[in-house]
Amino acid sequence: MTADFDEVHRLYDAEEIAARVDALAAAILARIGEDFVLLCVLNGGFMFASDLARAVSRRGCKPLVEFVTLKSYGNGMESQGAVRLIGPEPETLKGKTVLLVDDILDSGKTLAKALTLLDEIGAKSVVSCVLLDKPARRKATVEADLVGFNIEDVFVVGYGIDFADHYRHLPYLGYLEPA
Ligand code: IMP
Ligand code: MG
Repeated sequence: MTADFDEVHRLYDAEEIAARVDALAAAILARIGEDFVLLCVLNGGFMFASDLARAVSRRGCKPLVEFVTLKSYGNGMESQGAVRLIGPEPETLKGKTVLLVDDILDSGKTLAKALTLLDEIGAKSVVSCVLLDKPARRKATVEADLVGFNIEDVFVVGYGIDFADHYRHLPYLGYLEPA
């Protein structure tokens, strides 16, 4: 598939995202203080998490930054349900306050499973922060603690978020028309 960027409809531009990320950084520090592990959910969370890390850093915070892969999506547009966690050694998270940073809360299956897995690892507490929430799509009983933007049921790309591994590089958020 070749990405045709004319097909990407704009949702939020880089400036709007940056302003929201900075507000989230303030909300995170007010809520959990400065002693936490920022756990980035790959791959979609990479750009959001890196901007969030810099935003809390500008506010004087020095979190550990770790990465986790939660495999749930293939190349389609629907969550597959089964989730595997590939990430840091459990000792890195055990007894720690974890800020779980992901791109999109959709069906909620991924977040629900991640919270269960982090609980099993023995994290002291987990605060979830997602850039985008699609409440209309929820199937699992789960909400994020902090949300960048609530959006309609559209298929989002850009700012780290892909369709079949394309579009992640875009500095803005947009959506694709259904095929
Ligand atoms: P959930 O388990 O259905 O909540 O799936 C959440 C994950 O699915 C997100 O972290 C994304 O990786 C992916 N996802 C959900 N909606 C979209 C979308 O609109 N575009 C691209 N990926 C999406
Ligand atoms: Mg994801």
